[in-house]
Amino acid sequence: SDATLKSAFKNKFYIGTAMSLPQIHETEVRSVEIIKKQFSSIVAENCMKSMFLQPQEEKFFFDDADKFVAFGEKNKMFIIGHTLIWHSQLPKWFFTDKDGKDVSAEILKQRMKNHITTVVSRYKGRVKGWDVVNEAIMEDGSYRKSKFYEILGEEFIPLAFQYAQEADPNAELYYNDYNEWYSGKVQTVSKMVQNLKSRGIRIDGVGMQTHVGLDTPTLDEYEKAIAAYAANGVKVNVTEMEISALPSPWGTSANVSDTVEYQAKMNPYTKGLPENVKTAWENRYLDFFRLFLKHQDKIRRVTLWGTTDAQSWKNDFPVKGRTDYPLLFDRNDQTKPVVEKIIQLT
Ligand code: XIL
Repeated sequence: SDATLKSAFKNKFYIGTAMSLPQIHETEVRSVEIIKKQFSSIVAENCMKSMFLQPQEEKFFFDDADKFVAFGEKNKMFIIGHTLIWHSQLPKWFFTDKDGKDVSAEILKQRMKNHITTVVSRYKGRVKGWDVVNEAIMEDGSYRKSKFYEILGEEFIPLAFQYAQEADPNAELYYNDYNEWYSGKVQTVSKMVQNLKSRGIRIDGVGMQTHVGLDTPTLDEYEKAIAAYAANGVKVNVTEMEISALPSPWGTSANVSDTVEYQAKMNPYTKGLPENVKTAWENRYLDFFRLFLKHQDKIRRVTLWGTTDAQSWKNDFPVKGRTDYPLLFDRNDQTKPVVEKIIQLT
């Protein structure tokens, strides 16, 4: 059919992709054409993270982010900012003093406020939603022992949302995390959302990253998590979806990781997916999209973490140098058959 993902999901939810640097600079011409044609929302894969936006204190670098936002505006996209406060891809100066020691709570607050205010104000009214805090809660429901948590305690989260709200009162503000179907995480994230709301601090959505494999999570646990977050009166964003076709190394012992056998086991499909795996992978995408459609009243956006397989971070995570097939467009920028099947579901 002539339908695209963008046209098929038009009255349901935004359908988005992460953009890599070559895409933002429009040097990967063919995959940029895919983005323009197929997607209604974009997020930058890396260039809006703190280590890129403020590599040194007060030395902001906005060139790439400016290009990204301009691209989104030109193509009438729902532009997402990722991410303001995260323990990873965070420059060390952010939480240390000149001697390399942790700064005080007061100084860390000032630095958070300055970073958030500067970045959010720059794109006020243009970036429509921000991942304000990323990955702060562990699967067991405890808080991640990040520098933000160690220095400021749980309060760093409400503070970040407060600063973002002040800088752009109309932007949507989100909490974003991975493995968000674990019951401990569901409980603590829900509690955090309720706490923000009861204090009049804006939060519009919970982002479920959705870096998944063929087997985990079950659709049932994922569906329960959607319902649980929505029950707190926020939208659910599916923010970083891809389905890896490769075996997961979690739980395999580290001391075998450099053997030839281990490499072969972890990277079995260098010449393409066997038919049975391809079918399982397609069905898994279709199952997820059926679920998203069923809950379209709760879902604001579904974003894929990249456009083509060549670009995917999954080729290097959690094991380096693999050939994975997680996205909707292949290594030659061709549309996979699953795209038409997803469109047919609508
Ligand atoms: C990843 C990018 O895809 C990689 O290019 C980069 O090297 C590391 O970060 N959770 C997130 C994303 O919130 O920002 C991460 O993106 C993937 C996991």
